[in-house]
Amino acid sequence: MTPKTTSLIELPADLDCTRLPQHVAAIMDGNGRWAKKRGFPRIVGHQRGADALRNLLRCCKDWGISALTVYAFSTENWGRSIEEVDFLMTLFENLFQIELAEMVSEQVKLEVVGNLENIPPSLYDAIDRARTATQHNQGVRFTVAINYGGRQEIVRACQTIATQVQQGLIRPADIDENILSQHLHTADLPDPDLLIRTSGEMRISNFLLWQLAYAEFYVTDTLWPDFDRRAFHQALLNYQQRHRRFGKI
Ligand code: FPP
Repeated sequence: MTPKTTSLIELPADLDCTRLPQHVAAIMDGNGRWAKKRGFPRIVGHQRGADALRNLLRCCKDWGISALTVYAFSTENWGRSIEEVDFLMTLFENLFQIELAEMVSEQVKLEVVGNLENIPPSLYDAIDRARTATQHNQGVRFTVAINYGGRQEIVRACQTIATQVQQGLIRPADIDENILSQHLHTADLPDPDLLIRTSGEMRISNFLLWQLAYAEFYVTDTLWPDFDRRAFHQALLNYQQRHRRFGKI
């Protein structure tokens, strides 16, 4: 990321800076198809996808969007070929290592959510170092979901709460939405306002099932590696045309 000295750099004039989503979530889909269309191996699509992600993070900073959460690897993605899984794990590790200095200087606060118990130890260490180095940063909150599944996250939260009930720390009647939210990986983040999914698929794919309850969905046919500043601008324009009612009339 190139260092910038002021905020809201180059916010397009047709966007209302008072009505930007504060938290954007993205399902980064279409890397494989992007590569296939060009006759490249799938991993090239993931490399270009990482470039698109870097640019989107920079754009969030420039345009004053305070949180970005992306789905990098689902619990189902272990079903891909060993070569592709290994490549993705190494790509994540490299990103957290190579981009760390820049994330620190750009005030990005990195968080990684998901079940990190069975990821490669070297990736775990890279995540740990990057989290620690960025923990006090005040800029964009950048959350990467790795080995993440929304249902599993809710089940784990329920297990923790049930243990607390068993220990007599809380009563069943005390359990409410707030308590459940506090036991999710995203406990200290506001819920996403906008979910972007690329490559035209209209599925939530086990991503942030609880947290997306009132998010606006934006699906684009653009494949993730092509999701650039212009495509993000379109997503934000579309978002600003919505009237968010949160279930009210
Ligand atoms: C989905 O496209 C993409 C993934 C499973 C991996 C996402 C990873 C990146 C964008 C790399 C950068 C991320 C980080 C955190 C460094 P797909 O492979 O399912 O594409 P397809 O549906 O066209 O096959």
